[in-house]
Amino acid sequence: MTIMRHDPQHQHCNHSDPGRELIHVDCASHVYPDGSIGIHEMCFHVLKDEIVALCGQNGSGKSTLIEHLNGLLVPSDGDIVINGMSVARGERADLWKEVGVVFQRSEDQLFAPTVLDDVMFGPLNLGMSKEDAHDAAIKALEAVGAVDLAKKLPNYLSGGQKRLVSIAGILAMKPRIMALDEPTSDLDPVHSAMVERLILEFRERFGISVVIATHDLDLAARIADRVCLVKNGAVYAEGSPREIFYDTDLIRDAGLKQPDTVMTYLDYCHQRGVAPEDRPITRAELVTLLERLTTQ
Ligand SMILES: Nc1ncnc2c1ncn2[C@@H]1O[C@H](COP(=O)(O)OP(=O)(O)O)[C@@H](O)[C@H]1O
Ligand SMILES: [Mg+2]
Repeated sequence: MTIMRHDPQHQHCNHSDPGRELIHVDCASHVYPDGSIGIHEMCFHVLKDEIVALCGQNGSGKSTLIEHLNGLLVPSDGDIVINGMSVARGERADLWKEVGVVFQRSEDQLFAPTVLDDVMFGPLNLGMSKEDAHDAAIKALEAVGAVDLAKKLPNYLSGGQKRLVSIAGILAMKPRIMALDEPTSDLDPVHSAMVERLILEFRERFGISVVIATHDLDLAARIADRVCLVKNGAVYAEGSPREIFYDTDLIRDAGLKQPDTVMTYLDYCHQRGVAPEDRPITRAELVTLLERLTTQ
């Protein structure tokens, strides 16, 4: 685990693994027109094939960071480098082709008369012919299990269906990286599980790296390779879910609550008067461990 300390003498963030780095957020700050600080000297990176979770309280800067990744927002200071393209050097125009952003509110994303038109919009913008865009849209709708919605009006879909269609709209553009802002918030458990499965599948099938902002630390524990704790507009600690989520003080500092699995295990150890020697982070790991402990 790394606790990030900003060195005022050094205005750049370290490259972690330059050969695999797809996103390098280099000491980026963003001040909104009304003076609010969205992010402040933020260092963040994403490697090829990685799933990274941004976890932090409301207002910590997760959405502001995500909106920088496809060029929607531009840093007031510092740089955003996506696959070698630097916003500070003015190479912002094509970022949206590299990073597909799925917004928290699907309503912000869906606007075309039908679901199919909506999912075709991105591919058409990429310059695909109508036929190719149609093909890409159908494939993307199939991949998210929503092809039967193609002719529907986006307005009349349920929240879960809207989320799947927004994801298809981004997938149809075949981005290298997908950033999803609270992708399971407001979803029923079935749609939540579908979105979770899709994120893992996108990496397996299409080699897409994923950034998710989430309050659901159990979800982050199940799918993320790396967790970044965001506070006051900066990543202040990062590491594997196992390292981060077992650091009780750190999680409290971030204004968050440990994942249910972790709390259940710690409560169990406390009640039995034993030291928590293992670090289960998924329910399956916890069950296996409890089985072992209770038969000992
Ligand atoms: N459009 C905006 N105008 C002014 N301030 C904003 C705007 N969007 C976000 N902020 C502020 O930026 C900070 C970070 O917000 P945000 O990135 O939305 O956090 P999170 O996604 O972690 O909840 C907050 O203080 C928030 O009030
Ligand atoms: Mg947000």
